[in-house]
Amino acid sequence: MKALQCVELGGVEKLEINQVSEPDVGPGQVLIDVKAASVNFPDVLMIQGLYQFQPPLPFTPGGEAAGVVEKVGDDVDGFKEGDKVFAMTGMGAFAEKIVAPKESVMPIPESMDFETAAALSMTYGTTLYALKQRANLQENETLLVLGAAGGVGLAAVDLGKAMGAKVIAAASSQEKVDVCLQHGADEGFIYPVGDLTRDQQKELSGKIKELTGGIGANVIYDPVGSNYSEAALRAIAWEGRYLVIGFAAGEIPKIPLNLALLKGCQIVGVFWGAWTGIDSKGNKDNFMDLFKLHSDGKINPEVSDKFSLDNAADAIAHLQNRKAKGKVIITI
Ligand SMILES: NC(=O)c1ccc[n+]([C@@H]2O[C@H](COP(=O)([O-])OP(=O)(O)OC[C@H]3O[C@@H](n4cnc5c(N)ncnc54)[C@H](OP(=O)(O)O)[C@@H]3O)[C@@H](O)[C@H]2O)c1
Repeated sequence: MKALQCVELGGVEKLEINQVSEPDVGPGQVLIDVKAASVNFPDVLMIQGLYQFQPPLPFTPGGEAAGVVEKVGDDVDGFKEGDKVFAMTGMGAFAEKIVAPKESVMPIPESMDFETAAALSMTYGTTLYALKQRANLQENETLLVLGAAGGVGLAAVDLGKAMGAKVIAAASSQEKVDVCLQHGADEGFIYPVGDLTRDQQKELSGKIKELTGGIGANVIYDPVGSNYSEAALRAIAWEGRYLVIGFAAGEIPKIPLNLALLKGCQIVGVFWGAWTGIDSKGNKDNFMDLFKLHSDGKINPEVSDKFSLDNAADAIAHLQNRKAKGKVIITI
């Protein structure tokens, strides 16, 4: 079968499309014929050796895939050949087939297509957990989303609206802000690109305060990091919740803790992957909620770009170069 392989750590130019042997299905495992896989920021990090989990070389990147069950191993109940499923495996998805532990596999509704399922799993899974279990976002609260046109960012805009919040989207270009407004964001603004100067940080805080009538945002969803974080935190509302999602801008910020005291706010870590292992029932329940919101037309995962498996390296580059608006999908 065909698979994208990382044979040497480095940039996307080091990736190769190779013929590899089909994976064996062992006890407790499910073999999936992949129809769509989606690109996530960890793929960018993993091929460079910069991710928290590093597989030995060579490996196939790709953290999640949707497809059809081809075979099940011993000790697998609940799945059979022909079932539509998605799997969150952390790696191996940019290939014609993937073998996944049964715990990482979930059925998808008949009405949902493979691309939507691949687009929804990690981004909406992370974001519902963040907004519901971690932030306890309430109707009519204000949700500020940084990097709002990215994968998890646009999911936060979409889910924030579905949960009844007032959503403010912040992104690096008008084109990206427009995508967020099309997805229902109430307000949107452009922030500068790069290492923000002190004045730019003040401007960012000021803009958030201005758009919230001086009160600040009740919940801040931050997948960007760097010095965007402190500027945003300075504009959080009293008893607000600051969600630490990721550091797409590269730098992990160091936050003066007096801000948490002065704002009476919570700085809340979000590690969805770990939670899915600790509370698999909670995660399954969340996905039932997501499927229902989707079938009711209340959420609408955005697939911005599609690539073939042969061009999977370009798909990763597209995300890395900050060009994605919503999800980048590899169709197989
Ligand atoms: N905590 C969790 O459980 C969890 C789960 C999934 C993902 N994540 C993390 O969330 C972050 C975003 O993931 P994603 O898949 O949504 O990525 P993505 O689609 O690439 O979105 C990231 C956004 O960050 C912004 N950004 C700012 N500086 C950037 C830079 N130097 N390079 C690239 N993007 C930059 C970009 O928006 P602008 O151009 O508008 O600034 C981009 O749209 C990653 O750090 C990822 O590891 C965390």
